[in-house]
Amino acid sequence: MQIKVEAGDISTYSADCVVVNLFEGITAPGGGTGALDAALDGTIAGLLASGDIRGKEGELTLLHTGGKLPTPRVLVAGLGKSGDFTIDKVRTLSANIARFLRGKRVGSYATIAHGAGIAGLDAAACAQAIAEGTHLGLYRFNRYQKPPDDPFEVETVAIVENDGAKFNILQAAVERGVILAEAAEFSRDLSNEPANTLTPTEFAARAQAMAEQYGLGFRVFEREQCAEMGMGSFLGVARGSAQPPKFIVITYRGAADAEAQAIGLVGKGITFDTGGISIKPSDAMLEMKGDMSGGGAIIAAMGAIARLKPAVNVTALVPATENMPGSNALKPSDILRAMNGKTIEVVNTDAEGRLILADALSYAIQLNLSPIVDVATLTGAISIALGNAAFGIFSPHDGLVERIKQAGERAGEKSWPFPMWPEYKDLIKSNIADMKNSGARGAGSIAAAFFLKEFVDDRPWAHLDIAGVDFYDAEKGVLTKGASGIPVRTLVGLVEDLAVRPLG
Ligand code: BES
Ligand code: MN
Ligand code: ZN
Repeated sequence: MQIKVEAGDISTYSADCVVVNLFEGITAPGGGTGALDAALDGTIAGLLASGDIRGKEGELTLLHTGGKLPTPRVLVAGLGKSGDFTIDKVRTLSANIARFLRGKRVGSYATIAHGAGIAGLDAAACAQAIAEGTHLGLYRFNRYQKPPDDPFEVETVAIVENDGAKFNILQAAVERGVILAEAAEFSRDLSNEPANTLTPTEFAARAQAMAEQYGLGFRVFEREQCAEMGMGSFLGVARGSAQPPKFIVITYRGAADAEAQAIGLVGKGITFDTGGISIKPSDAMLEMKGDMSGGGAIIAAMGAIARLKPAVNVTALVPATENMPGSNALKPSDILRAMNGKTIEVVNTDAEGRLILADALSYAIQLNLSPIVDVATLTGAISIALGNAAFGIFSPHDGLVERIKQAGERAGEKSWPFPMWPEYKDLIKSNIADMKNSGARGAGSIAAAFFLKEFVDDRPWAHLDIAGVDFYDAEKGVLTKGASGIPVRTLVGLVEDLAVRPLG
């Protein structure tokens, strides 16, 4: 699918469909909608007067133009109340329109820049949101269906702008939107891929192909190198699997000073989580091909960072392994030693994400990365707390929490901070080692964050628990069935923000 910007008049545009919009409560449409309505001899105004169209958010009305316009169809999209309209609604609307028109077998359509007219939103931000929403909304993972269930695809979408002076700005904004959407889609592809295909080896190969495509630094530490580096915690998890583990490292150098301190992005790369010897019940296991979503999001974000070129250095670390109950597997009560020398009593082999992150975070400290942001499908408890509406932020650094929250808001990916009060530290206290890898029933997500905190030496660090938002079972706005690609766009936005406004 291709998105282009065209200077011109939407009311004379020729495509399979032309999309205009209406706020709730408007009785006489203006702008592009008004121009089309005039050409249609007041059809839209008539539908408004009769109450057939009300401009409600989510309302989509398809009209046939009966030869009165070059386009055979007009879609009127309701925007809801004008005071409530936001960039995120532009994104959601664009996704819903794209899927609606695909369902109607509309292969090419033109749209006005929703939000940029009377809504008064920034025109470039609107164009970017339309590009993101359209791309993400049309995403499907149909690699394993030939032909796919529903093979029809939208080929081209044109954003038509009558102010020629805005053309270059809108064009650049669309390119940005496409880069961000493509990164999120790459992340979705990785997470949707079943674990028999996406082994740690294949995961690393796809990361490498991406890194080579965009000119990023890339290397993989094999099991032996990880052992030499002292990654006993990561290798402890890998022991139960026949698949060799891979520790993936990707570097981006964008700062004027190539030696300048790099931001660290760390992602959980469990390509399948059976739970290990503390095995999961069957139903809970089905979703666990997505347990590398944190790592996948970070790898994908690096691709977008390489294309957008913020003036900052970034290093991504993704420990990748399966969590399997093989005959050599980790056993409850085993004690592991992490790269930073700390010992861990493994009381539950299903709390494996924090074990592999312990070594990745230790390595991030050794590389002097700062700030460090880790992303992981770490705990089922996070979706008990937040459902699938937001991911959790855990960090003792309030400034970093705020920056992540804001980057998430700009991306339309909601997040919410959790407390890191010292009261919770005892949750991971062990009688026999420096810590244990799982607490009691309460505050499971916070206990996991406190475990990770043991490996970051009080550096500026935040942990994002995405276990509630990695997979969805229904289409909703930019979200499609399966992997969400959250928080790729948040991470890219955060890195861009840190490039211009370093953490204080
Ligand atoms: N990968 C899971 C967390 C998860 C659960 C992700 C549901 C997505 C959906 C993680 O490795 C895990 O098993 N966590 C345990 C921790 C517990 C043993 C302390 C959990 O949440 O039950
Ligand atoms: Mn687990
Ligand atoms: Zn897991």
